[in-house]
Amino acid sequence: MKRLANKRILLGITGSIAAYKAGEIIRRLRDANADVRVVMTQGATEFVTPLTFQALSGNPVHQHLLDNDAEAAMGHIELARWADVILVAPASADFISRLCLGRANDLLGALCLASHVPLALAPAMNQQMWKDPATQTNVQTLRSRGVLLFGPDSGEQACGEVGEGRLMQPHALIDALADVFATGSLTGQTVLITAGPTREAIDPVRYLSNHSSGKMGYALATAAMEAGAEVILISGPVDKSLLVPHSVKTIHVTTAEQMLEQTQALAHKADILIAAAAVADYRPVLANSEKIKKSTESMMLQLQRNPDILATVKRQSPWLFSVGFAAETENLELHARQKLKDKGVEMIVANWVGHAATETQGTFGSDDNALKLFWDGGELELGVSSKARLARELVVLIASQYDNAIQSGRLNKEQREVENVVQLRSHSHDKKN
Ligand code: PMT
Repeated sequence: MKRLANKRILLGITGSIAAYKAGEIIRRLRDANADVRVVMTQGATEFVTPLTFQALSGNPVHQHLLDNDAEAAMGHIELARWADVILVAPASADFISRLCLGRANDLLGALCLASHVPLALAPAMNQQMWKDPATQTNVQTLRSRGVLLFGPDSGEQACGEVGEGRLMQPHALIDALADVFATGSLTGQTVLITAGPTREAIDPVRYLSNHSSGKMGYALATAAMEAGAEVILISGPVDKSLLVPHSVKTIHVTTAEQMLEQTQALAHKADILIAAAAVADYRPVLANSEKIKKSTESMMLQLQRNPDILATVKRQSPWLFSVGFAAETENLELHARQKLKDKGVEMIVANWVGHAATETQGTFGSDDNALKLFWDGGELELGVSSKARLARELVVLIASQYDNAIQSGRLNKEQREVENVVQLRSHSHDKKN
């Protein structure tokens, strides 16, 4: 179940006899390499002790809304921001009813209100309680608000009755949960993504670079893959522990010139380019062949401009729906809008970096970020959240803007086909000569 790998699952457990089955759900989620945090309602603790789920999830179980210790460790708003998805399994009739009313009188209710990630409920209750018009009306209301319903299954119940109301089987629940991450919004498209820093050699042991970890670009590669795209990632030197799914073709480069060369070579295959790499704007005019000795008190390093990869590729391949990033320490909006114009791209994704990024705890290397998106005639702010979640939200927006651009004729994919034929012809001509 690769789709759940590294996903942050907030599992809510409510007061139902099926609460014991949550242990199996947690085990399967961990087998799928998901990160699981458990929140139990008071009712759930009557059936199973929090210690059981703490041992199974490997994390402390959250229970109380107004708990000083828990708030100091990971407060309820932080927990709501942390999650990629909330699954409540089992969801009791009482919890469903409270959720419907928007009650925040316990931790789980408050978290569901405070979070805007997908929320899925796996109901479990007596068949008559499930059939009751009050429950059915609540379920319809929640569905109309976009809440996902997994199950319930039908069959023999703990109370001896037979009917609908059993908790969905854990393996089926896990499959349904994984499907939440498969949006399909980029099915059939090829997405080229640049990520990480570049390094520009000063001598064999030193280089110019920046603090980019590659996390934002890699999260975008995963999100685009989950949205059904064929993804090609051109990665600068990032930490080896950073992983992308096997189906993402990854090309490793070091310098800006190498990144440009690879991006140009692959542009004809792509429909969308997302430039998340933090490319070094300058490189030393000369990279010393031997280690520079510290013989003087000061030294001059002469630098020359690196090519602008994004602007160059967009100019050469105008059919490519191109998304640039803007990493700023001041005047975010002003600079982002300027980059939108100067680089001739369809969208700019701006984020604060350096000292200005304290609210996002640093951006560079951090698991979280906050983004502001600009395009011709629109803008959107995505508040502080995990890079994984932001990447998914960004991909949804890129997919819809891409569709608009194709439908309105602003992007002409036929141009790419013509360009490809011209290139093929010139290659075969070169070979003959
Ligand atoms: O990698 P992380 O630690 O997760 O951090 C994420 C990030 C901060 C690196 C990322 O979110 C980000 O902002 N990436 C772009 C960083 C950057 O170089 O911004 P810029 O404003 O200098 O460049 C504007 C755009 O032009 C970017 O899309 C960049 O890829 C591109 N560019 C810049 C210079 C250059 N020579 N060629 C380019 O293509």
